[in-house]
Amino acid sequence: MSKKHIGILTSGGDCAGLNACIRAVTLHACLGHGWRVTGIRYGTAGLMHSPPQTLPLTPELFDTSYLRRAGTLLGSVNTGNPFAFPMPDGSRKDRSEEVIAGYRSLGLDALIGIGGDGSLAILRRLAQQGGIPFVGIPKTIDNDVAQTENALGYATAVQVAIEALDRLQPTAASHDRVMVLEVMGRDAGHIALNAGISGGADVILIPEIPYSMEKVAEKVKAIRAGGRNFALIIVAEAVKTEGGAAMMRDLGRGETRYGGIGHYIGEAVEKLTGAEVRVTVLGHVQRGAEAVPQDRLLASVFGAHAIDMVAAGRFDRMVAWQNRDTVEVPLADIVDKSHCVDPHGVMVETARQLGISFGD
Ligand code: F6P
Repeated sequence: MSKKHIGILTSGGDCAGLNACIRAVTLHACLGHGWRVTGIRYGTAGLMHSPPQTLPLTPELFDTSYLRRAGTLLGSVNTGNPFAFPMPDGSRKDRSEEVIAGYRSLGLDALIGIGGDGSLAILRRLAQQGGIPFVGIPKTIDNDVAQTENALGYATAVQVAIEALDRLQPTAASHDRVMVLEVMGRDAGHIALNAGISGGADVILIPEIPYSMEKVAEKVKAIRAGGRNFALIIVAEAVKTEGGAAMMRDLGRGETRYGGIGHYIGEAVEKLTGAEVRVTVLGHVQRGAEAVPQDRLLASVFGAHAIDMVAAGRFDRMVAWQNRDTVEVPLADIVDKSHCVDPHGVMVETARQLGISFGD
């Protein structure tokens, strides 16, 4: 087999497991096949530069600290879709041909992209337009990529949210307070649901299950009437107000992010129950933690398998995790789809069986 030259990039919000995955790609490509690997810096933005921003990747670079190290050594961007790139004068420009030209200038045989659903859709479109042999690897703390049970970074984010609940519980108990914890997850409630069960939340609010403040207050009042004077509420960032408004922050240049629902819920609980309430917004600490074992393993498995896919010429696919094994799914099957919480699934059922309220 001819010696290949592989490009790899990370795209979208960073998360735990990215470095471990880049390491696995490099080790298997170089040690297993004798190939060359070039890291592309800052996702597609790095390919817009002339020459492209790159970093040669060799096995020697990767001491074992990369298995746990947070962030991405390649850098990433989660703004600047090359098909509608924001220009300094406020306009949008299609810069996709520049990205493709950058890729071609590197003399690569294939590209591996580690990204969430949005990034993978953009990379696939670029690959189709430019005839680029492309393999995707799913990552996102939100765990909302379709066709895979787990994406890189999700398990670590859940661990961080559990630790936050573990730390809020004693201070809540000491001061007879209701603690509200707002967690990330974009339009999916996976982090809130799984951390809520594992961290002992009394109320879990997720975008997939409509709630009423009256029911949330009822739960808090019932806990207090039962003799426990504190409660833990975990809320996913995309939960809407009772009136159906999404709590968004405008970042300018057409960019918005979720934020603020924790304070909305906190104020309403205080008003309806008379309890003293404090609100914690967990934010980006969910992204920057050292990878937990599950993410180190998934990163290693995904990275090595992506090289198998390149070796076999199986492109326009994403490596995924299903039924305790890797599978390959066509990228067409994940574009414009989302893996949200099943309101009738086992996790929601389990939470209800434990007496956790969803405010419904
Ligand atoms: O998609 C990952 C994520 O962390 C979301 O959970 C969150 O809504 C968003 O990215 C935050 O984006 P940024 O890093 O641009 O603030």
